[in-house]
Amino acid sequence: MRVAVAVSGRGSNLEALFARLGNGDEARIVLVLSDRPDAPALDRARERNVAALALRDWRSASEWLAALEAHSVDLLVLAGFLKLVPSEVIARYRGRIINVHPALLPAFGGKGMYGIRVHEAVLRSGAAETGCTVHLVEEEYDRGMILAQARVPVLPGDNAEALAARVLEQEHRLLPAVVLAAARAGLPVAIESART
Ligand code: GRF
Repeated sequence: MRVAVAVSGRGSNLEALFARLGNGDEARIVLVLSDRPDAPALDRARERNVAALALRDWRSASEWLAALEAHSVDLLVLAGFLKLVPSEVIARYRGRIINVHPALLPAFGGKGMYGIRVHEAVLRSGAAETGCTVHLVEEEYDRGMILAQARVPVLPGDNAEALAARVLEQEHRLLPAVVLAAARAGLPVAIESART
């Protein structure tokens, strides 16, 4: 399966994918895209001789589609991509775009719920557990079929940074597992949720 990964920032999930997919026999990252030309994740791709593209305009469906088609992409993974993917791209690749979110959706999702804000909201709510979710991407933020979740306890004395780090560890495990399951099935499928 030929995989494209879209990122906005540091790219630790991208790194986890590179590590887990190994030599790419089952699933191979063939393209990394970013809305930010200075995203460190683009360098992580270049270091591995993987095509790295800074989108000139992330709102432009034709720019996305040209890149995805040029690299014969089967699966698009949003790994810390903070902008909305153009709806024409979602329509063309429906069922073949996945996202990782750092909470147990449908809780703590939706517009404005990203990064540290998610974990701050979890702590404010007093929830005893949180986690991460991999789901299919639809036009609305954080909607779409849930493919897998991993649960993470909220511990006494946690701050948002500590919680984010504990959740991120699970993202690094869960996202590659979903990609490999998709490669084996030929398209994204739900896999059993994991408990830490
Ligand atoms: C992750 O927490 C992901 O769930 C969220 O953004 C963060 C990206 O981290 N959507 P990284 O760029 O993969 O390190």
